[in-house]
Amino acid sequence: MTTPQEEVQQQAANVMGHVAGLAATRTIQIGLEAGLFEALAESPKTSDELASAKGIDTLYSMVWCRSAFANEVLEKDGDKYKLAPHIDKLLLDEEFPGFIGGMVRTITQPEVFDSFAEKLHSGERLWWDKCGPDFIESVGLTGRPFYTRMIANGFSQVPGLNERLEAGASVLELGCGAGIGLVKLARAYPKVSLVGLDGDAYSLDLVKERLAGEGVEADLIHSTLEDFDIDSQHDVAFINISMHECRDLDKVTQNVHKALKPEGVFVISDMPFPETDEACRTVPARIMSAIQFFEGQIDDQLLPTRFYVDLLEKHGFRDVGSFDITPVHMVVHGQK
Ligand SMILES: C[S@@+](CC[C@H](N)C(=O)[O-])C[C@H]1O[C@@H](n2cnc3c(N)ncnc32)[C@H](O)[C@@H]1O
Repeated sequence: MTTPQEEVQQQAANVMGHVAGLAATRTIQIGLEAGLFEALAESPKTSDELASAKGIDTLYSMVWCRSAFANEVLEKDGDKYKLAPHIDKLLLDEEFPGFIGGMVRTITQPEVFDSFAEKLHSGERLWWDKCGPDFIESVGLTGRPFYTRMIANGFSQVPGLNERLEAGASVLELGCGAGIGLVKLARAYPKVSLVGLDGDAYSLDLVKERLAGEGVEADLIHSTLEDFDIDSQHDVAFINISMHECRDLDKVTQNVHKALKPEGVFVISDMPFPETDEACRTVPARIMSAIQFFEGQIDDQLLPTRFYVDLLEKHGFRDVGSFDITPVHMVVHGQK
């Protein structure tokens, strides 16, 4: 039997773990922003060598290296520090399907916790046009591995979809953000024709720049998801980590149904908020709970997979199916 004293110790260890988690996250964030991981990926270095390679203070370099080592993102070779195994992929390689660097950058942006704390009493809400460029960029980096995974092994799990994309489907991307997905879709499926839709004008400017820089063509529509009106034009409608943000999920689902040709497919790629209390206490769910601090400010919350399945069925989609790609990435699909 656990004594009250042992219980206190266990709970103290739990809370101390949270403090350490914050320290680890900030250490990673600083390392990403200052290019310290990149410098160590090039070659192992002492903290002094790292300081001189990056032009940072030698004492601060030592403090950062020690913390990164303590949090197991760095290892030591004698007195030189080097990246721990796979950290290059997880934190630096934006094309890696399991890239987490974007998520670290997003949850450390002021729009997530600082802004929430400021608005705690007023309950004031926010929208994308009030978010800074760094936040929008970091969200793009967070969404990137979701696209990578969809192309690597998501679309292929939706019956017949890969074949249609390869043959040259007309694809409507809803909530296209900064256009990373449009470029990735164009590269993976060169025959597709693309339309990107988003409600945020600044994001669409970023899309235009990106498309021009990458030599990719796509039509762009500036509209809310609730207000667009397209009739039977697309083979595929795709939405990446944005469906939960709809103000009116029924209206958006109706709009998507109307926009699709007969047999057209709607694919939702999003974060699955757990349905049970028990599942809320996992690491993926705790990260999704962090994301909810931003979602709350734009007046929505992440939703469970079951919700989207019911939504598509309710609005006449057939052969509705769902699957998880990772613990923070689910897919729901249905056919018109
Ligand atoms: C989380 S970001 C995702 C962007 C992109 N899909 C990605 O994965 O990087 C959500 C995007 O959806 C857009 N959005 C959110 N709610 C919207 C709505 N109701 N109507 C139109 N666009 C919306 C935002 O402007 C933003 O660009």
